[in-house]
Amino acid sequence: MQEFLATTYFWLKAGHIIFVIFWMAGLFILPRQMVYMHASAAGSDEEALWASRTQTLSKVILIPSIILVWVLGLALASAVGAYTQGWFHAKLLLVVLLSGYHGYMSATAKKMARGERPLSEKQLRLFNEVPALATVLVVVLVIVKPF
Ligand code: HEM
Repeated sequence: MQEFLATTYFWLKAGHIIFVIFWMAGLFILPRQMVYMHASAAGSDEEALWASRTQTLSKVILIPSIILVWVLGLALASAVGAYTQGWFHAKLLLVVLLSGYHGYMSATAKKMARGERPLSEKQLRLFNEVPALATVLVVVLVIVKPF
């Protein structure tokens, strides 16, 4: 198994980065769509349109991407023996938090689709920055491997 993972290392890494890009693109778009849904009146056609867009984004981009990023990332970790390395522990913590953010925002989008407004527009705009911050920290950890 270890030998198989080592020979396919570059393919795993290419796949990992491709789905990281899709996942991050989806996470950048979702809060933006939620800002527009927030601005539409509860029960209106416009709200229904934004609700269907957030659901399509989840089904087509976000859910398949997060699954593939995790599967390929954990396979990569086995291939490079990352489980004992400090940078990987820090990265794991960040990606677990980012996955929690993903789940929280998806659940909030579903509530908004039912006419609820659990977050203010200002909070949504603030939360919009989370994926960008996570990307900066994670990329520094995997490239620089400072510890
Ligand atoms: C979700 C769980 C994730 C796991 C388990 C994981 C794990 C890994 C591992 C073990 C590597 C190999 C590092 C090496 O070759 O030395 C890697 C590479 C990489 N990861 Fe992740 N990762 C995850 C998510 C992410 C996310 C969210 C991002 C960006 C926001 C990301 C960006 C990258 C990049 C850019 C590389 C390539 C680094 C290089 O060129 O060596 N990963 N990942």
